[in-house]
Amino acid sequence: IGRNYLYFDSISSTNDYAKEIASDSPDGTTIVAEEQTSGRGRMGRQWVSYKKQGIWMSIILKPNIAPNDAVKLTQVAAVSLVDAIRETTNLTSYIKWPNDIIVNGKKACGILTEMNGEIDKINFIVVGIGVNVNVDSFPVDLQDKATSLSIEASKKIDRKLLTASMLNNFERYYRTFLDKGFFSIRNLCKKYSLTLGKDVKVIMNNKEYVGQAVDIGDDGSLIVAFKNGEKKAITSGEVSIRGL
Ligand code: BTN
Repeated sequence: IGRNYLYFDSISSTNDYAKEIASDSPDGTTIVAEEQTSGRGRMGRQWVSYKKQGIWMSIILKPNIAPNDAVKLTQVAAVSLVDAIRETTNLTSYIKWPNDIIVNGKKACGILTEMNGEIDKINFIVVGIGVNVNVDSFPVDLQDKATSLSIEASKKIDRKLLTASMLNNFERYYRTFLDKGFFSIRNLCKKYSLTLGKDVKVIMNNKEYVGQAVDIGDDGSLIVAFKNGEKKAITSGEVSIRGL
């Protein structure tokens, strides 16, 4: 991971660029930019990516897996980030399933996993990672939801060290995942989860479900239990933790 490394001063979106070059790039190609002019978040949202204040990067992966397994790679990235944040800042962070990293109740990183392929086999996956490292202020509408590592640690954080740590961890967990399967990192996902045990509201395929998050499935899904005793494995969609 990151051995083929492309660096940009400014780019529209590292995910968009990664998708453009993915077919001709080796597995693990990593694209990093100092600034994104049209950074994207999930659900078509915008992702604010200030110059030199964060880590805006995308990793091109070509694993031999099915599209339904993409959520597992989001989890691989998430556990890598939690470890990297602890190693470089000493901050404790949690995964809000499936793709947010939360520090002290606010979002510090987001992951946007996109893919290209057929029903049974993917051509490539792009894992986009956005980390608010040294962002010192956010637009008003984000202020009570978003934070940065420097705000939470009350000091400037070395972006290079954090990037290196993230890529090292990613390489290790990605290998483990490919060699042994998702179950080998599932326990870490559970340990780092902010969502488990909480009451959640899930919006999937335009339907709303309210229940309690009880487990991470061996396919990377979030298992939600409902009052009537029924359980459902959520594989994608929007999950909010009630009271957060
Ligand atoms: C989210 O939380 O909604 C996901 C945010 C993902 C942001 C990253 S920054 C690098 C990559 N390029 C993009 O345009 N988005 C992702």
